[in-house]
Amino acid sequence: MLSDIEKIVREAGVIVCEGFDSAKEVNFKGEIDLVTEYDVRTEKFLLENLPSVLKGYTFVGEESSKGNETADKCVYIDPIDGTTNFVHGFPFVGVSVGVYEYGKPVMGVVFNPIMDEMFTAEEGKGAFLNGNPLKVSSTDEMLMSLLATGFPYASVQDNPDMLMNILNKVLCFSRGIRRPGSASLDLCYVAKGVFDGYYEFNLKPWDVAGGICIVKEAGGMVTDEEGNDHNIIGDSVVATNGILHEQLIKLLRECKCNK
Ligand code: IPD
Ligand code: CA
Ligand code: CA
Repeated sequence: MLSDIEKIVREAGVIVCEGFDSAKEVNFKGEIDLVTEYDVRTEKFLLENLPSVLKGYTFVGEESSKGNETADKCVYIDPIDGTTNFVHGFPFVGVSVGVYEYGKPVMGVVFNPIMDEMFTAEEGKGAFLNGNPLKVSSTDEMLMSLLATGFPYASVQDNPDMLMNILNKVLCFSRGIRRPGSASLDLCYVAKGVFDGYYEFNLKPWDVAGGICIVKEAGGMVTDEEGNDHNIIGDSVVATNGILHEQLIKLLRECKCNK
């Protein structure tokens, strides 16, 4: 089944690549929250093709079929994760499909068609990048870590101080922080061992569903901001190589008083 999903996601990537290189009309879901015809077309393609290989699942797509996010067997689709990157020509965009059963991730496929990076994972069977096994990093000191984060549209507009307070603190305890702009790929880069950790608040299920299985299967740890089991309908995510998890959670907790 995973290889069937992978095949469909790869085909969806053709639409994304076509859009990446073309002039496109940009519409606004919010003041800085963008959507293009390619987000809509890619999601439509996925929703037309995935149900034949994922029978009995509820499909939740960012652009068209929100609702039933708590269904027992659910597939979360983000057709273009990193739409701002896509619009501006920054090549960090992911087509993300996350398969969940009873609240647990069982399969994840995240594809960056611009960089031709196909990340896949299935519960108990490991995580792969273009067919090669993935493993999280072994960094064991925060000061030697490269971290990633993201700035969700709502937080940027409603409470930028909260984001900055946390960034300020975490930055001082790491080697550096990156903000690549695609939550699903940020998770995959933790799985790849490029990032030692990643945290973000105010996310939606489709932003993270594909990447979470991939991090776990690469030997990493994924929780919410408190260190509890990650809940797909919760809004925060902290993903690390496992070794640094407690330390990153502690830092985030210390910042919470300034939130
Ligand atoms: C966004 C990206 C970004 C994250 C935002 C998401 P979109 O998704 O994942 O990295 O910081 O919170 O909304 O809108 O490009 O699909
Ligand atoms: Ca997204
Ligand atoms: Ca999206």
